[in-house]
Amino acid sequence: MILAPRPGERHAPAGSRHNRTMQLLTTRRLDLAPYDLDRDLEALHNMFADPEWARGGYSTPSRSEAESVERLDREFGDNGGRTWVLRLRPDETAIGVIAVFSDQGTTIRGLSWYLSREHWGAGLMSEAARVVVDHLLAQPDITGVEAWIDSRNTRSIGVARNAGLDLAGRLPRTNPGEIVQSIIMARAATPSDPTTFAIRPILQVPNVTTTAALLRDLLGLHLRFQSDDDSFARLELTQWNGGSGIDLQSATSEISPSTITFEVGVLVDPLYDAAVAAGLTATPPANTPWYRRTFTLILPEGHQLTFSGPIPQ
Ligand SMILES: CC(C)(COP(=O)(O)OP(=O)(O)OC[C@H]1O[C@@H](n2cnc3c(N)ncnc32)[C@H](O)[C@@H]1OP(=O)(O)O)[C@@H](O)C(=O)NCCC(=O)NCCS
Repeated sequence: MILAPRPGERHAPAGSRHNRTMQLLTTRRLDLAPYDLDRDLEALHNMFADPEWARGGYSTPSRSEAESVERLDREFGDNGGRTWVLRLRPDETAIGVIAVFSDQGTTIRGLSWYLSREHWGAGLMSEAARVVVDHLLAQPDITGVEAWIDSRNTRSIGVARNAGLDLAGRLPRTNPGEIVQSIIMARAATPSDPTTFAIRPILQVPNVTTTAALLRDLLGLHLRFQSDDDSFARLELTQWNGGSGIDLQSATSEISPSTITFEVGVLVDPLYDAAVAAGLTATPPANTPWYRRTFTLILPEGHQLTFSGPIPQ
């Protein structure tokens, strides 16, 4: 696709091997040039190979140039050429890269950004991300952009916020040697308030206090409200108002069993062990084809509560 230049954009110089049709974008201090393997690999590999850089981004460093090529190809190889390297004018060396992930056939596209360590903290990636996100959201085939960021990576979260992305959700993440969480930062081309912002199933249970304590202890749910007569309790995912949760109601007639899945950001095996130790019935944990590990707790009244978490390494 050939895009007409917009204010602040120029076409890539002729001869740029990979991205003849993509644009050079500019910011106050930077040129964002379409990535060219031959020209940019050495500089990008030096960045990827820096162990301190990798530690700061909660990733692992490249051990060879071939690994850096493989990384760029795996992440951005099929993204329609939407990979830009950052150059701090007037220097033409790549000091970082910002790119859309390979196409997964959706109009919501993932974005990632990497900057060489010696340039951190000067607002450069925030400057680049703002222009790239604005540019992407102006394209007809993109309705939103997402960045999946390790929840500890405050710099990257700052970049996302500075580019107008807001917290949209969380996913478990298996990192070498640890289980962590990614936060999903997102911005829509046309922002709108969601029609539905929480789902609140109701479980009929024989004893509200007992089930509330079980869910609180096992899942870290927060008790928002419990009636004095023990006929009702509301549990929520966080201590904050406005989120999802589950209501418990004291059963007044025969209970029809429900099935509910809880997505958790911790390993499910210790939860299973705790459930079994508490004398509850549960199916043993198993991996699913969609990269989660799950087990199902069967409450005495027949409700099936499935816990879905990350797969251990
Ligand atoms: C994440 C990364 C691209 C940030 O680039 P950067 O140019 O240093 O970012 P900026 O200077 O624009 O700063 C972004 C935010 O980090 C904050 N920040 C800067 N230095 C910081 C520090 N030492 N500690 C914590 N936060 C810091 C800034 O204050 C800013 O937030 P604010 O504008 O709300 O104040 C860079 O650190 C990097 O390449 N890290 C390794 C790879 C990585 O993590 N990529 C993201 C994968 S999701």
